[in-house]
Amino acid sequence: MKYKAYLIEENEGNFNGQVKELEMPNLDDGNVIIKVHHSSINYKDALASSGARGVVKSYPFVPGIDVAGEIVETSNSDFSIGDNVVATGYKIGMSVFGGFGEMVQLPSKWVLKLPSSMNSFDSMCYGTAGITAAASIKKITDANVSNELPILVSGATGGVGSISVGVLAKLGYEVHAISGKKDEIETLKNMGAAKIILRDEFTSAPTKPLDKAIYGGAVDTVGGDILAKMISMVANHGVISCCGNVAGAMFTSSVFPFILRGIQLSGIDSAESSLSLKKDLWNLLSDKWSINLSESIKTIKIDEIGNEVKKILDGNQVGRVVIEHGD
Ligand SMILES: NC(=O)c1ccc[n+]([C@@H]2O[C@H](COP(=O)([O-])OP(=O)(O)OC[C@H]3O[C@@H](n4cnc5c(N)ncnc54)[C@H](OP(=O)(O)O)[C@@H]3O)[C@@H](O)[C@H]2O)c1
Repeated sequence: MKYKAYLIEENEGNFNGQVKELEMPNLDDGNVIIKVHHSSINYKDALASSGARGVVKSYPFVPGIDVAGEIVETSNSDFSIGDNVVATGYKIGMSVFGGFGEMVQLPSKWVLKLPSSMNSFDSMCYGTAGITAAASIKKITDANVSNELPILVSGATGGVGSISVGVLAKLGYEVHAISGKKDEIETLKNMGAAKIILRDEFTSAPTKPLDKAIYGGAVDTVGGDILAKMISMVANHGVISCCGNVAGAMFTSSVFPFILRGIQLSGIDSAESSLSLKKDLWNLLSDKWSINLSESIKTIKIDEIGNEVKKILDGNQVGRVVIEHGD
């Protein structure tokens, strides 16, 4: 079975992507083959497409950590031909060819049936960014963080950030969005942010061991100095969900927010989350936590992936990019 894919090849340390025709291997035991209708581009896909170390083991490779489509072959009787399914994370797009191809073969234990109210396009508007945002917010709601104080979101125009802004606003939180993009203030307000704090302004004053407790919690998608500052500003028993490192992997903090305010720093690893947690998150996003993403979605074909990858690596992406397969 032949299929088209955006294949990344390495040539003397340079990584280039091109649309190529590939051959799908025969179905292995325990696997399913999915005709991919839609995928999306996440930060990790941009790293995989550019040969960044630590994401993909060997090239040539087809990235794409998000997959939504229909089952065309199955070795697992829990699935039938034609089932609409979604799969995100695990080793998809890292060591197993992913959603930048119009077919994938995946272990069935990584695959979920889509909630009935969601089609493959809707699911990829959220993609891994959406379930990461939902997992981050669930840490905050599970800890019963009240909505008396605002919640901070960093990297607010990005995939995880923008969905976090929208869902938190829908849940009744006042959202303060940190962004590096002066030109996107209106976009962030339309997503549900009550206040926009420019990134340079947020980090301009030095971080104190314990600052004024003016936030109930935070979703941090960038790490580094921004995360350090957030920690110092969260009120008693608040929760900071830490999911990204765009601004840096290292940060310095003091113990005071933890021992004097009892705050929690909660790590998010959506890729390796259990399938049952992913199912819960998809159910929330298809129902009570669903938001209108139509204004922040760009839909592209696989031959346009290269441009979008560059935008992400330059920190210039706004919202989400959905890949539509087929002509
Ligand atoms: N832990 C997990 O399970 C998980 C899952 C998915 C993603 N992630 C991570 O979450 C992060 C965001 O992913 P994404 O897919 O949302 O990426 P994205 O769409 O590229 O968004 C990242 C956003 O970060 C901000 N940013 C860019 N460069 C920055 C810098 N130097 N300093 C501070 N902020 C900067 C920008 O927003 P503004 O201009 O608005 O500030 C940018 O739009 C990545 O680190 C990704 O690896 C983790």
